[in-house]
Amino acid sequence: MSNSGEAELLHTFKGIPFTTRSSPELLKSLHTFDAREDDVLLVSYPKSGTHWLAGVITKLYNTQVTITSPIEFGDISQLEKLNKLSSKRIIPTHLDYNMLPPNFKNKKCKMIYISRNPKDTAVSMFHYYRDNPNLPTVDTWTAFFDLFLKGNVVCGSWFDHFLSWEEHEDEKNILFLFYEDMKKDLPKVVKEITLFLSLNISDDDIQDICEKSSFSEMKNDTEKENSDPTHTVCALTSNRKLIFRKGAVGDWKNYFTPKQNIRFQEMFDEKMKLSKM
Ligand code: A3P
Repeated sequence: MSNSGEAELLHTFKGIPFTTRSSPELLKSLHTFDAREDDVLLVSYPKSGTHWLAGVITKLYNTQVTITSPIEFGDISQLEKLNKLSSKRIIPTHLDYNMLPPNFKNKKCKMIYISRNPKDTAVSMFHYYRDNPNLPTVDTWTAFFDLFLKGNVVCGSWFDHFLSWEEHEDEKNILFLFYEDMKKDLPKVVKEITLFLSLNISDDDIQDICEKSSFSEMKNDTEKENSDPTHTVCALTSNRKLIFRKGAVGDWKNYFTPKQNIRFQEMFDEKMKLSKM
């Protein structure tokens, strides 16, 4: 990471790096947030397919729902803004389970956690660091790889984030999804989401939603600015153009050296030894 004052783009709260777009006051007050029973949370570690999932979910509802900005985004006024929304709220967040406002847990709100092969997540995040002015500069993939493995990146360690949520995987109000499954058979995953959210949607409509949610359609929409260009479901940027990069599975193979792959695998085996993944 270059040291030209860029470290100031990040600050740490409870040991986890956040961008300055999440104010310390907001983070300190999150535990007071008043959840509603019909809130739906979209949870992810950055670069796991959050926008894709959000794009699908908005198309599933024909009633008035609002995809809000992430709960941890902005200053202290964010809590009041979310409070004032009268419509059903779909709330994105990159928070790990332990930082989630307790009210969401007590009220058993529905939560969808999307995860992705951490190697592809790391490569996607590397590009995001390079393109996103809200994140510190990284000069090389090698430098970023080290930061990622140490968890010294925005939102902290991928492993800690994933494990904090995986511990709750069996709870009925939490649905676990994988980016790779969405790539393989999107209609199947969308069907699963509709059942989880108790939405009655025909197979034809699901098919149509999947076509409109393809990588190329979503990228085109953003480029034509059919979607609100300032709206983001990621607390790290408001620029949707930074999101739709390649949309592929296995891009890590173009970046990881054999040595890096071994180091990553060792870390994975060590950290994930109790995981079902
Ligand atoms: P890449 O950088 O590997 O291309 P997030 O929304 O959590 O920030 O995740 C961004 C990643 O999801 C990017 O990965 C982006 O290209 C990918 N993505 C976004 N929309 C997608 C879609 N419709 N289909 C496949 N991948 C998509």
